[in-house]
Amino acid sequence: MLEGGEGAGKSTHAQWVRDWLRARGRDVLLTREPGGSPLAEAIRELILRDWDDGMPPLTELLLIFAARAAHVHARIEPALSAGTDVVCDRFVDASYAYQGAGRELGSASVAALEKLVLGSLRPDLVLVLDIDPEEGLRRTKHRGEENRFEAETLQFMRRVRQAYLDRAAEGKSRYAVIDAARSKDLVEADIAKILEQKWPV
Ligand code: TYD
Repeated sequence: MLEGGEGAGKSTHAQWVRDWLRARGRDVLLTREPGGSPLAEAIRELILRDWDDGMPPLTELLLIFAARAAHVHARIEPALSAGTDVVCDRFVDASYAYQGAGRELGSASVAALEKLVLGSLRPDLVLVLDIDPEEGLRRTKHRGEENRFEAETLQFMRRVRQAYLDRAAEGKSRYAVIDAARSKDLVEADIAKILEQKWPV
């Protein structure tokens, strides 16, 4: 799983991880959240849309887990059962970071839904692409249209970043924090080292 704040370059690096695994002869499904299956992508539209009367944080959390349940059912579980590796651009850690910390819903409500929706399903490895939120926001500004999250305050982004770092510190071997403010090549070299350690050939 690849995680990180806005502008950390997750999507580019997720494709790189997919290619790395494929080059080693593995079957790989590259997918993303929120979304990843037709139903979950439809829910994603609802989550990212700018509603005139806003979206309550709890509605956001529930929609994200509704999308996740559809995605896991339609794509992730069938892939894992077929022996396919799954690379996901964001997964449940994003809910701890964005809804638990960013929206200040707390980690207990996220944990309750995680248990309900995922059971014992957990990623083997979470790559946290860490970037200072100011730098991350500078990068996303160049992309043009912002979604509701990219338009959030710096304070929000700082809570998101801290939550990722805290989870990485607690989760230890399943997590790797990578300094994503550096060039693409340097970040990829770090990712390669971590993947080689985890899945030696
Ligand atoms: P994403 O497509 O990864 O956007 P970006 O590549 O621009 O970061 O995700 C869209 C937004 O969804 C992102 O801003 C973070 C948010 N999100 C949550 O708030 N909680 C979640 O559990 C997930 C998976 C994403």
